[in-house]
Amino acid sequence: MQEELQQIKNSAIYFIMEATSASELEEIKLDFLGRSGKLTQIIKDLAKLPKDSRPEIGRLANEVKWAIEQAIEQAEINFQTRKIEQIRKLDISEPGIKPPLGHLHLVTQAIWEITKIFSQIGFERVRYPEVEWDLYAFEGLNFPKNHPAREDLETFFIKAPHSETFGPMVLTPHTSNGQIREMKKGKLPIKMLNIAKTYRRQSDVSHAPMFHQFETLCVSKGISISDLKGTLNYFAKSYFGENRQTRIRPYHFQFTEPSFEVDITCGLCSGKGCKFCKDGWLELGGAGMVHPNVLKFCGIDPNIYSGFASGFGVERVLMMKDNLNIDDLRLLYANKLAILEQF
Ligand code: DAH
Repeated sequence: MQEELQQIKNSAIYFIMEATSASELEEIKLDFLGRSGKLTQIIKDLAKLPKDSRPEIGRLANEVKWAIEQAIEQAEINFQTRKIEQIRKLDISEPGIKPPLGHLHLVTQAIWEITKIFSQIGFERVRYPEVEWDLYAFEGLNFPKNHPAREDLETFFIKAPHSETFGPMVLTPHTSNGQIREMKKGKLPIKMLNIAKTYRRQSDVSHAPMFHQFETLCVSKGISISDLKGTLNYFAKSYFGENRQTRIRPYHFQFTEPSFEVDITCGLCSGKGCKFCKDGWLELGGAGMVHPNVLKFCGIDPNIYSGFASGFGVERVLMMKDNLNIDDLRLLYANKLAILEQF
């Protein structure tokens, strides 16, 4: 019993020293000294001991009780003084702590800037589903059934039953699905700006599996390549600077005819040619005149209406701004404050 008393004392004092609040102390007090507390129980059992060992053990039990009470009292005083000290430490005349200020993510800033540039010439921003049907992402855009983009080597497919009318479900592989969605609404003329997340099976220094694109679509009577060229020039000058120029080169896309690749003069050598560009030019993205098949698919008569479209990467144009020196596109999504705070 002596050993047991010693153990009770040690564990009680240990718990008291570890206690972090007055209510915790109260619980410990109950646990040891309460009516059915550990020590109280032993004191009750004293009566069962042989008469000659009772005084010795009784004295020890009282000592243990006293020690625990003292420890609790001291701990209570400590809590009180800590509280008073905390109150005393509060100096309301001290200057406040400035909370760290964040800013919009670089990509969001770029999206806002692009939206503003196009809204100034009447393009209206739209949003369409990120999980899209094949019909809008490929079929309506004149992609043949066996086109590689319609396979899971390039595109992410959703595990969902295929629809008879709409086909399988995919994560938007480009923003061009917005063209079909917009034209299918049946309202003309159209001046659309579709900015959205796009997904492809790719990951290297200049590609991430998720990135953003911005797509323009302009459909009306008499829209020609010169409207496209004027719009591209306007965008390049507004976003990159007055001294920049664009050019279009013949290319191939399923949903435009003719199709072009759009280049912009290099900001570092002003078009003279340096190691960062191709003879003074940098690739911006794709564009073209809306294919008659696409217009027809959306119920628009290609003999009356025509249109242009373009699709560029947001991250790409952001990284091409000449004051931005990021050599790995994936850094934009690494969420490292050391990088984000520089902008
Ligand atoms: N959808 C194309 C891509 O992701 C980009 C594109 C090219 C969009 C030509 C267009 C266009 O609107 O006319 O590679």
